[in-house]
Amino acid sequence: MLPLRLFLGFAFTYAGLSKIADPDFLNDDEPTSMHQTLLAVRDSSPIDFMLGPIASHSALFGALIAISEVAVGLGVLVGLLTRIAALGGMLLTAGLWLTISWSADPWYTSADIVYVFAFTPLAIAGAGALSADGWLARVSAREGAVPDVQAGADGTRRSLLAGALGLTALLALGGAFLARGPKAATADAGETTSGTAPAGTTPAGAPSTTAAGTSAPGTTDAGTTAAAPTPEATGAALVATSSVPVGGATKVEADGDEAWVLQLEAGKFTAVKAACPHQGCAVNFVSGSDGFICPCHNSKFSASGARISGVATSGLKKLDVAVGGGQVRLA
Ligand code: FES
Repeated sequence: MLPLRLFLGFAFTYAGLSKIADPDFLNDDEPTSMHQTLLAVRDSSPIDFMLGPIASHSALFGALIAISEVAVGLGVLVGLLTRIAALGGMLLTAGLWLTISWSADPWYTSADIVYVFAFTPLAIAGAGALSADGWLARVSAREGAVPDVQAGADGTRRSLLAGALGLTALLALGGAFLARGPKAATADAGETTSGTAPAGTTPAGAPSTTAAGTSAPGTTDAGTTAAAPTPEATGAALVATSSVPVGGATKVEADGDEAWVLQLEAGKFTAVKAACPHQGCAVNFVSGSDGFICPCHNSKFSASGARISGVATSGLKKLDVAVGGGQVRLA
């Protein structure tokens, strides 16, 4: 049990403290916040009916989850009230599996379902000899007491240990809160980012044949801003050109899927699908320079959709778009 406890204990304690130390986690406007993550996975989750109310109180639930993760981690690590901690860990990871990891394909590649079952030996058999629970049981046996967690001296010792552990957790949480850095300034979807629309580019709303996602911020593709009139596109309309801010992006629906239409340079529209290639969460637009971030596992993508970092192994799927009738349309 010891290697399993060490791994799960450190992983959960670290995960909980990371959430507490992250100034963005409880800030609903941030792309990596609990709130945005819930919105990103709601449509694909089998428990979507629960996610709306939770998203409405995401700060409360986010704090509860972070503290629960720390409690589970420390309980499993020390081996105190291990079965209860393991059941808590199973509940937390089952929740993650049914939300963030539900779109994993193939399904058995989801880490969260593995975590659910990794807790089962601890929930069934307890922590083993090298644990606070084991020590308490030995002390009770030596003193001839009934090894009942609710009874007598054993129960008192267990309560004292739980209190000490709780105090340690509180101190750790306090330290983590103090260590929270200043909130990073990021632009939300739809906001204009400065410096991404160089002078001399095509005016907003002008017809464009730019291939989706091929333009990096501040660059101009040969042939995409030709002065010659371009036939108006007639594909399915995604969004009015006037609704996409210069230097920003607007979330739309394209062929039944969520997508982002960007106007990084005035008059040049590109589009990418919002589905993260890792496990399908909807990515959030940060800014023209910072691109997209996936709220589920923090994969990052450039504004053109190229993968920058994270567990996703490929970039966002690009959509070919063109302008016609004042609308950005599928080409
Ligand atoms: S779904 Fe895992 S990084 Fe996006």
